[in-house]
Amino acid sequence: NHGGGASDGMAGLKVVPDMPLLPETALPAGRPHRALARLANTAKQRGVVKATLTAAAHDVELVAGQTTPMWLYNGQVPGPLIEAFEGDRVEIRFINQLAQPSTIHWHGMPVPPDQDGNPQDAVPAGGERLYQFTLPKGSAGTYWYHPHPHGDTPEQVYRGLAGLFIVRAKDDPLLSFSEQHWVISDLKLDAEAKIPDNTANDWMNGREGQFVLINGQHQPVMNILGRQRIRIWNACSARYLRLAIPGQKLTLVGTDGGLLEKPEIVPEVLLVPGQRVEILLGDGKAQHAELKALIYDRQKMGRVAPEVERTLAKLQFNTGAVPNTPKLLRKISDPGKATALKKVEFSETMSMENGQHTMSFMVNGKIYDMDRVDLISKAGEVEIWQIFNNSHMDHPFHLHGTQFIVLDSELEGKRQNAPYRALHDTVNLRPYETLRIKVVQHDKGLRMFHCHILEHEGQGMMAQVKVI
Ligand code: C2O
Ligand code: CU
Ligand code: CU
Repeated sequence: NHGGGASDGMAGLKVVPDMPLLPETALPAGRPHRALARLANTAKQRGVVKATLTAAAHDVELVAGQTTPMWLYNGQVPGPLIEAFEGDRVEIRFINQLAQPSTIHWHGMPVPPDQDGNPQDAVPAGGERLYQFTLPKGSAGTYWYHPHPHGDTPEQVYRGLAGLFIVRAKDDPLLSFSEQHWVISDLKLDAEAKIPDNTANDWMNGREGQFVLINGQHQPVMNILGRQRIRIWNACSARYLRLAIPGQKLTLVGTDGGLLEKPEIVPEVLLVPGQRVEILLGDGKAQHAELKALIYDRQKMGRVAPEVERTLAKLQFNTGAVPNTPKLLRKISDPGKATALKKVEFSETMSMENGQHTMSFMVNGKIYDMDRVDLISKAGEVEIWQIFNNSHMDHPFHLHGTQFIVLDSELEGKRQNAPYRALHDTVNLRPYETLRIKVVQHDKGLRMFHCHILEHEGQGMMAQVKVI
């Protein structure tokens, strides 16, 4: 009985036993990188972005001669890229052609709670709705969208539902750089090229597919012209990506919520599930390199081996324009003195029931309940959230509706200030680490916060704050 009896403790969850999977060689590698599909804007007026997203089942041929049934937005792997400017009015019609309820959650974006795809606002199977919001000044950044229905988020995302959203500023200091967009996701395919349900181990550690894809492609070749701005998303359910290009340093210029104050030269970037970064790559000289995901040990349950090192893509650097890198990108102002403190604790417990192991993942000692308010915040009030990971595996913390600043972290009695100011909506916590973040919510209503390992969120490692 592989995975112990964990399935027993996961009442109501679909659990399949471990099964043979396709070898990694089954998906062709080495093809030229393909750009993301863009969602056409059908609005006639300037300053308005109008489009339709349809979630539906599609058969896709990923492995030659075999069909993989997937659930996709507008039939695209990954879902289409939506681009808008600060100040734009966005109107997205969502048509749910799935056989189950869904929502669209605008991960990281400051959209009103009733437009943010909360689990309470599910669009029924066969139903539709209009999401509308205006993008405020200062919201330029790299975001994404994905379903957020109660309990079914992991499955809807691992079957293919996730898309990208970029908000641009008219006075962007990096306007002279051409861009590339790399969405990293992983995909699990069984021996028949079908997407299997989660195993007990997937539910415990988070699901990782054997194929790591960039823009839906397996180990593509990326051509970088001169020096370019690269936006990178970690859209994996659970995979930690310690990104590096051996032989090169990375110039980090942005995080989830947009640009840093100034470029930071770093040897590698840890991109945890849900997070995004912007980096500048290339110096205008022709050369080859590789994009790697390095070994990372997230102290998983069940004693699973750490992430192995793997090559995600081959990089071909070419001659081309090398715009100057600005010394200053923008000012991220401190929101001011905090007048409220919130305490959040992530934990997991293992118990025995009828001789079977049962895992529970919790926030502040409780499993998510759609009808319970866990915390109350006041709109506009500056708060410190002290988040403690009382467990022996890493968990990425995510808060809806706003961007926050990390102040410091404490691990094994050592306190460390954040190395630079940056805007995040998702941050990692090492086992037994405490993070202090500064948060302001601007809109009244209900906001979720949760672990962004989707299997943990789906099992209830989520809570909600009511903003009054
Ligand atoms: Cu990206 Cu509540 O999620
Ligand atoms: Cu979110
Ligand atoms: Cu978790």
